[in-house]
Amino acid sequence: MLQLQQILYAPATASEPILRGIELYAAPGRPVLVAGESGSGKSSLLEVISGLASNKSGSIRWNGSILNQRQRRALCGMVFQFPERYFLGLTITQELKLGHRRLSTDRINQILRRVGLEQIDRTMAPERLSGGQQRRLSLAVQLLRGAQVLLLDEPTAGLDWSVRDDVLSLLADLARDQVLIVVTHEPELFQRWACDRHRLEAGQLTSLTTLP
Ligand SMILES: Nc1ncnc2c1ncn2[C@@H]1O[C@H](COP(=O)(O)OP(=O)(O)OP(=O)(O)O)[C@@H](O)[C@H]1O
Ligand SMILES: [Mg+2]
Repeated sequence: MLQLQQILYAPATASEPILRGIELYAAPGRPVLVAGESGSGKSSLLEVISGLASNKSGSIRWNGSILNQRQRRALCGMVFQFPERYFLGLTITQELKLGHRRLSTDRINQILRRVGLEQIDRTMAPERLSGGQQRRLSLAVQLLRGAQVLLLDEPTAGLDWSVRDDVLSLLADLARDQVLIVVTHEPELFQRWACDRHRLEAGQLTSLTTLP
């Protein structure tokens, strides 16, 4: 399980702290939804957890042990709001094979099935996928890497209703085995998702409801 205690994030480039006194707990079967307005610090929170940014004080523990930034980068998989900015492969297969030269077709099929992309043409450029499909591909990349903590930034942004339902069932499925933290400015779309709910306001996190 993942535990954040008293996280303070105050990069030199910011005039005041972006995150203060953050306390958060997440575990498999206990996914977390963080809701907050634009500018409240949602993406910053995911950047600190994933080791892309460095907190000034406080601790981030995994199964009780404090993790440094490098360890967090290995543990966490970030699914960005606009994954197309980070794709490197010329085709979907290539994107999945980055860093795994010997990846079998069976494993590729299995992972694409897991994220609901088994039907797509894998010779296509990842950028040609729809927004929702790009986030699924980016999730598949993180699952292949063995990321145990999945961090999703605005997974429903720009998706139409039918696709949003698919995203919710995928999240419910993933949350059984992985630690899942989702940040969003549209929490009403996640009403039917069983998760612990928090609100982020001007860099401060308040717990709203927790699972029984
Ligand atoms: N490295 C940084 N240096 C200075 N200020 C920063 C830095 N990163 C983020 N900020 C500021 O911190 C605040 C929170 O930014 P953040 O991107 O985390 O918000 P957000 O909740 O993800 O917003 P949005 O919903 O628009 O994506 C903003 O005011 C932003 O300008
Ligand atoms: Mg953001």
